[in-house]
Amino acid sequence: MWKIGPKAEWRFLDRKLKLFEPLRGTVVEVGMGPAPNLKLYAQHVDRIIGVDCNAAMHGYARQAAEAAHAADKLRLITGRAEALPLEDGSADAVVMTHVLCTVGDQQQALAEARRVLKPGGRFVFLEHVAAPQGQWLHTLQHALNPAVGFFGHGCSCCRNTLATIQAAGFTTVDAEEFTLQIRGPLAVIAPHVAGAARK
Ligand SMILES: C[S@@+](CC[C@H](N)C(=O)[O-])C[C@H]1O[C@@H](n2cnc3c(N)ncnc32)[C@H](O)[C@@H]1O
Repeated sequence: MWKIGPKAEWRFLDRKLKLFEPLRGTVVEVGMGPAPNLKLYAQHVDRIIGVDCNAAMHGYARQAAEAAHAADKLRLITGRAEALPLEDGSADAVVMTHVLCTVGDQQQALAEARRVLKPGGRFVFLEHVAAPQGQWLHTLQHALNPAVGFFGHGCSCCRNTLATIQAAGFTTVDAEEFTLQIRGPLAVIAPHVAGAARK
């Protein structure tokens, strides 16, 4: 992720800048990984809590924070999206990008994101998702999903993530669906959704 991630990040930059611009206060980023997002919001927030189930990611996240001159704002926690080790109503924003494709239980992860948000808090997401049923890409996604899971450490390209977010009890959900221009088998991760929900 540390090596490949930056090569893909340009594809999301405009959308991420727009989504992260309103973030203020305490931001919890779930599935932070090597923290490619951190530099995009670190300067205008007060505190960043990075949660990842893989403690091996923390060193990379720390490097990203140092490069963004925000090491003093970052606290790293090893934990699962489905059971965030954080107080109710303790975050102004929760960020998840390319994480809901992998979590074991999307509904539980979203319930946790909502629980830790303050009333009115913002849930920001950007995820690859299932193509609409009936499209050839949908069929291809289902055919290749076992390989995606194997090589992607449990990732699925067949999830209707937006529907799950819309059913998660947020007061509003603003989302944009878009498709990356990708050829070949990696086209299975081309369909995306990005947006923000409010508690
Ligand atoms: C594909 S990476 C995305 C990293 C980063 N958010 C990004 O946009 O590049 C997914 C990250 O989520 C973490 N992850 C996967 N399942 C998780 C879970 N249930 N709880 C917490 N972190 C999880 C992985 O360890 C990995 O660091």
